Amino acid sequence: MSSAQSPAPAKGPSHVAIIMDGNGRWAERRGVPRSLGHREGVQALRRTIKAAPDLGVNCMTVFGFSTENWSRPKDEVSDLMGLVRAFVGTDLKRLDDAGVRVRILGRRTGVPRDIVEIIDRAERQTASNTKFLLQVAFNYGGRADLVDAAQAMVDRAASEGRFDVTEELFGRTLSTADAPPVDLIIRTSGEQRLSNFLLWECAYAELVFQDILWPDYGQDALADAISQFKRRERRFGGREAQDAPASVSVEAAS
Ligand code: FPP
Repeated sequence: MSSAQSPAPAKGPSHVAIIMDGNGRWAERRGVPRSLGHREGVQALRRTIKAAPDLGVNCMTVFGFSTENWSRPKDEVSDLMGLVRAFVGTDLKRLDDAGVRVRILGRRTGVPRDIVEIIDRAERQTASNTKFLLQVAFNYGGRADLVDAAQAMVDRAASEGRFDVTEELFGRTLSTADAPPVDLIIRTSGEQRLSNFLLWECAYAELVFQDILWPDYGQDALADAISQFKRRERRFGGREAQDAPASVSVEAAS
């Protein structure tokens, strides 16, 4: 077959969002404390971030801690906080050197002050990096993010007398403002829910649910999710397969 007749290679996802589920079950199955499951979850996160660029991904959003996770026992909450401190402390330089921009989604209220300082520093230090965008949802809830954007628009109306509401403007008011649209949402551990993650942003995302527990995740599992994505036909409400619409640009959002 001549190259003119070859089908175009299926396009992979640019932006992959992951609900990293199953740390607790991974630990229970081994008879070890849940904290060890979360610790291994951080290792899986490192492996997955490392594998992403070679698989064509240039933006990844992970669900690190939800607004609902505060209801877990105190020691587990404290373990998760400790892991975020350690992750940023240990990995920030390596991420920065690799050209990764780090952004933390979610409310700062209620988050221990030292963690707020750590994540603010991570954002500042990596703000001009452009090779890869890593968004960590932390104290994040999709509904809370929508409410905060609505409030910001109301405030803008009051201060600037600007009363128009468009999808574009609203999208640019969310915490994910200048990120490309989410192409693929992955949830591990076999659960099939969105759990209040990226409710606006996943409007046209493909969903892939994998039976693997998060601490066992890495390059092969991500490659498998991406190959499932490539077999999907994305129509965005139309009748023909289409590529994702253009994302909101960084310049437009600033
Ligand atoms: C779900 O496992 C996972 C979480 C609640 C948080 C994910 C956190 C990490 C991977 C580590 C810290 C994160 C960062 C960003 C450094 P689960 O406890 O709900 O598992 P289960 O459903 O099997 O009980």
